[in-house]
Amino acid sequence: MSLPLLRTRIPGPRSRALARQLRRFESRNVTFVSDRWPIFWQRARGANVWDADGNRYLDLTAGFGVASVGHTNPRVAAAIRNKTGTLLHAMGDVHPNELKLQLARELVKLTFRTNARVLFTNTGAEAVEAALKTAAIHTGKPGVIAFRGAYHGLTYGALAATSREFFRAPFAEQLGKFVTHMPFGRVPTTARNCGAVLVEPIQGRGGIIVPPDDFLPKLRRFCDEHGILLILDEVYTGFCRTGRWFACQHWGVVSDLICVGKALGGGLPISACIGKASVMDSWPESQGEAIHTSTFLGNPLACAAALASIAEMKRLKLDRRARELGVHIQKRLPVRGKGLMLGLEVGDATALCERLLQRGIIAIPEGERGEVLGLTPPLTITRRELDFCLDVIAELV
Ligand SMILES: Cc1ncc(COP(=O)(O)O)c(C=O)c1O
Repeated sequence: MSLPLLRTRIPGPRSRALARQLRRFESRNVTFVSDRWPIFWQRARGANVWDADGNRYLDLTAGFGVASVGHTNPRVAAAIRNKTGTLLHAMGDVHPNELKLQLARELVKLTFRTNARVLFTNTGAEAVEAALKTAAIHTGKPGVIAFRGAYHGLTYGALAATSREFFRAPFAEQLGKFVTHMPFGRVPTTARNCGAVLVEPIQGRGGIIVPPDDFLPKLRRFCDEHGILLILDEVYTGFCRTGRWFACQHWGVVSDLICVGKALGGGLPISACIGKASVMDSWPESQGEAIHTSTFLGNPLACAAALASIAEMKRLKLDRRARELGVHIQKRLPVRGKGLMLGLEVGDATALCERLLQRGIIAIPEGERGEVLGLTPPLTITRRELDFCLDVIAELV
């Protein structure tokens, strides 16, 4: 396949016209529109995206870290298509579908191997909400320790743990006060009234920040000493992104609860909080009305997509592939991170992303001030596609 070579000014006329219309109908806070941004996606395959004007791009974001097995992965699409003909929706917490059972079994095997339970949710933030509630139920202690620079989502519970002022300030008066934020990389010394530590093994939206090697093991020890839970938010880092199935494996740390989302569904929204049975079984047995559930919990299409995505990660050995391609990038650019969760400190990544778009590369800034160029492509990106992107980046920075 050829590499992007754009002939028109980006965004093209159709993307511009659509963006103008979108501004009239969508909440104005959502999609940033300027004369250089955005393009409208029309189709995507692997690391390739085509826009409404027929231009082709390479996606260095994997669509926010979702398309680890590649955009519109044929096996994932087939699994969804197959289920589409028979069952679009079931009754999550009342009359379930069999794929939910299969996926729960698979997630237990992948994370804790055995003796764990899954609580399905739909988005990353909801998985974090589920973990926070589980910790409260299990420990009876309301406090949570989280970290500066953390991003756990924007629903109220998750937002209380997210540390960026930009997201918090308009809602400060309504945010729960149960979270204490520590500097990322520093282990707390006291756990007063805290039931859990919530942490990303590698901070993603905070700027692709890898903590010191002793951080997670010491956090584990701290939690054990104080009888509190370690919650890992692997929504971004999970499913081979960092070169291991889960980032915690880099440090040999086993958590009590783990939150996953993004790449799990291969493009469909599904997430989960998975926990040791000894912790999760603090939830009371359902007597017909669940305390925590949602309408789309364990949606059959999303479960089919997730099972197919996981099968693809295994078949293509994407953990190894992420490691190898990560090493390749590290040889060419002074990036930080692990596997294909890499960041390049560039000063003004927002401006750089606009220039990259003009050259056929989709990228987004990370970091509190948008100072980091994120490099989190589909794990299936080819060496040639990647080299094209690296050449352009090297030329522009
Ligand atoms: C580590 C982490 N946790 C949670 C979330 C929230 O996920 P969602 O946007 O699906 O709610 C994100 C999103 O970027 C994330 O990176």
